[in-house]
Amino acid sequence: MAGSTGTAEGTSGTAGAEGSVPGSDKRATAIFDVEGVRAAVTGAASGLGFAMAEVLALNGARVSLLDANAELLDVAVKELAGQGATVTGELLDVADPEAVDRVMGRIAEREGGLDAVFANAGISRGAGIIVEEGQLENSDRAAYRQVIDVNLNGVVWTVQAAARVMRPQRHGRIVVTASTAGITTEAFCGYGYIAAKGGVVNLVRQAALDLARDNVLVNGIAPGPFFTRIGGPSGADPEVVAYWASTVPLGRMADPSELQGVVLLLAAPRASTFVTGAMIPVDGGTLIGPPISAYSRPDAGFVR
Ligand SMILES: NC(=O)c1ccc[n+]([C@@H]2O[C@H](COP(=O)([O-])OP(=O)(O)OC[C@H]3O[C@@H](n4cnc5c(N)ncnc54)[C@H](O)[C@@H]3O)[C@@H](O)[C@H]2O)c1
Repeated sequence: MAGSTGTAEGTSGTAGAEGSVPGSDKRATAIFDVEGVRAAVTGAASGLGFAMAEVLALNGARVSLLDANAELLDVAVKELAGQGATVTGELLDVADPEAVDRVMGRIAEREGGLDAVFANAGISRGAGIIVEEGQLENSDRAAYRQVIDVNLNGVVWTVQAAARVMRPQRHGRIVVTASTAGITTEAFCGYGYIAAKGGVVNLVRQAALDLARDNVLVNGIAPGPFFTRIGGPSGADPEVVAYWASTVPLGRMADPSELQGVVLLLAAPRASTFVTGAMIPVDGGTLIGPPISAYSRPDAGFVR
């Protein structure tokens, strides 16, 4: 019963220790402390991955930024290092399982372990069902395969490599970037994207169950529409922005920095110690339903 004995509350809550609990220091700075956390983030050179790497690194974590784009990676690492953060960059294509094993193994060896891994890298290819070329009969198989290889297989290889390091440690946090498009329909997305994101949503639960016996927590984030590079040049198109905004009850797209509180929550060794297998929407309310403005007769209620 809550508050009856409170034995767990009195323990010290050593960072990353097996079965650790928040401890007696109730300050936010203690509960969300990521100082010294050894983290790796895939797709860290841009958008949501950069926001993840940034908030971890600027709060004292030792962050390995992994990305397939050398140019963007270089800029991202320099930007964080220039602010005094402890960061390194490694070129990595998550669709290549041997490369994922090699790079993650190298980082774990260099750092003496890994405390938090963010499987975030992702792409969007292939037209959505909103246009004729994206409809099921016409959808492009090459684009489908490419998206599955990065957004589904790439996440599986990353989570697998993280588990190889974390299970023997008997602690760790794995966080997968899914999408609202893995939970519900999204007319703007292609079949590869929808299938891959749906896949990782259940992968999170299965991996969480598998790794729970070894105190490794696996969770996911389901973002709604954020301003990043993923939409390509059309992402800046006012019509596209207006479309996305119209799907969100909060009525707008989001800035990547709006994800950073959840990143600390899931990565900090003393925060969310009893959260595993969860999928946290960061979506402005998208999953609760369309905004009221989407109803054509907002006045047509049953009560008059
Ligand atoms: N932006 C959104 O609205 C949104 C919504 C829901 C989910 N997401 C997901 O968030 C994640 C990050 O996307 P983003 O929006 O920040 O896009 P982004 O394009 O800004 O960043 C993605 C990063 O991943 C890297 N990348 C792509 N393929 C890779 C590969 N094979 N190996 C390693 N790195 C690779 C890119 O170089 C880039 O730096 C993706 O999984 C995406 O599906 C984004």
